[in-house]
Amino acid sequence: MLDPQAYDAWYETSVGVATLEHELALLRRICPLQAGDRVLEVGCGTGRFIGSIAPQVRSAVGIDPSEQMIEFAQNNVEGVSFEVASSPGLPFANGEFDVVFECTVLSFVDDPVATVTDMVRVTRDGGSVFVGDLNRWSPWQMRRRLRGWLGRGSFAGVRFFGRRELMTMLRTAGLEHVKSGTAVYFPDWNVSRNALHRLERLGRWAWPWAGAFVAACGQRPQ
Ligand SMILES: C[S@@+](CC[C@H](N)C(=O)[O-])C[C@H]1O[C@@H](n2cnc3c(N)ncnc32)[C@H](O)[C@@H]1O
Repeated sequence: MLDPQAYDAWYETSVGVATLEHELALLRRICPLQAGDRVLEVGCGTGRFIGSIAPQVRSAVGIDPSEQMIEFAQNNVEGVSFEVASSPGLPFANGEFDVVFECTVLSFVDDPVATVTDMVRVTRDGGSVFVGDLNRWSPWQMRRRLRGWLGRGSFAGVRFFGRRELMTMLRTAGLEHVKSGTAVYFPDWNVSRNALHRLERLGRWAWPWAGAFVAACGQRPQ
């Protein structure tokens, strides 16, 4: 069980700030958000992502199965309606949202396909579903995978994804116009924000497939 305080403190570090910024930038690149959108984040944790998006959209909802995470989010993030819930089993009607997304959640759920299928169910026809997870081909994640295989660190049993795998999952769930990308090319070093941005630009130019965060977004047919 993740401790919300400790988990959220990482987002205050320079590498945490830059990670959130570049993950959100990738989301905006491949999953355009409109001012009138109703947006749901599945597995919102402490609410950093949905809290950053909420000011630009009509309504924002964040769900997470962890009561502690939701309590933390409710106490620290404004403009979002938070609920304890999980996917599959989302407590929403078919087609209730324009955009449904998750960040680093499929790596931890029991059944990623069932989670994505339920995300698609609550998205309206023509709406978008975005999934973003840990990239199996990034040097940062390869080190974590290796530590997991050796039974060291907290990454044993965690799932990693590739771009094609995420795209296939979305297409199989019935989505079309599927796009993908990666972000977060810098290593997990707390150097200056400027240095991290320069490393990000370099990584995106030199190894566009190797960011630590891999994402795909598709639309429900109209
Ligand atoms: C690594 S955290 C990511 C939190 C947040 N999205 C972020 O990137 O900061 C994974 C989150 O997924 C949640 N989670 C686990 N199983 C879930 C499920 N079946 N449905 C929705 N969320 C789930 C966990 O409670 C946890 O908060």
